[in-house]
Amino acid sequence: MWLFSEIYVFVLLLCVWDLSSGQIIYSVSEEVNKGTVVGNISKDLNLNVQELESHMFQIVSGSNKKYFDVNLKTGALFVKEQIDREELCMTSEKCSLNLEIIAQNPLNMYRLEINVLDINDNGPSFPIHIHTLNITESTFQGERYPLPSADDADIGSNTVKTYKLSPNEHFSLDVQSGSEQSVSAELVLQKALDREKQAVIQLLLTAVDGGTPARSGTLQIIVNRDGE
Ligand SMILES: *[C@@H]1O[C@H](CO)[C@@H](O)[C@H](O)[C@H]1NC(C)=O
Ligand SMILES: *[C@@H]1O[C@H](CO)[C@@H](O)[C@H](O)[C@H]1NC(C)=O
Repeated sequence: MWLFSEIYVFVLLLCVWDLSSGQIIYSVSEEVNKGTVVGNISKDLNLNVQELESHMFQIVSGSNKKYFDVNLKTGALFVKEQIDREELCMTSEKCSLNLEIIAQNPLNMYRLEINVLDINDNGPSFPIHIHTLNITESTFQGERYPLPSADDADIGSNTVKTYKLSPNEHFSLDVQSGSEQSVSAELVLQKALDREKQAVIQLLLTAVDGGTPARSGTLQIIVNRDGE
């Protein structure tokens, strides 16, 4: 008897715990087509498909409701409207949507959490199109010139990973990966700008992200040689 009640309390506690925090977690990539199946709630809630209709299952949570729907005939939770992760969560590492599903007779509520996964749908872009530098002929080799950084709305490995410089005889590029998600680049003068050669040097800086396939964005650099 003592043992029985102990087990009973234990089971009851498990159920309470299950209702409050033991929610079902699904994942779906952003930008998938409407109709893409995210999961099977009939299977994951351990219910017969027939029960979904008879208990009038429906999604009730506010603004996230528009993205998902449940097919009461099959139990499939599917995408109703394309999801743009950047619009929903901007640059947060984690992007999860909470859904509540209510069943009638008896009244029951189920919570679902849906993680929206990033895809490389954005490329790096620079805040300006042209960056101009004025460098005098007497400037020594080794002088450094910080360059504008590119932004990428994606996260993690889908954001800016490195920079490349068009081949040229005067400058090299020094790429620094500092703290998380910040990569910057500097031009380093390798060969003094000489009076005899062209007055303007045009370079192209390319920012490349770490996605597969990678995306890139470019910045034109114009170096004016200042005479003394
Ligand atoms: C969902 O799972 C149930 C079994 O629990 C099954 O009968 C049903 O066909 C499944 N639906 C889909 C869309 O796979
Ligand atoms: C470069 O020099 C021009 C004039 O010679 C000036 O208008 C411009 O602002 C300078 N740019 C920079 C980045 O110093």
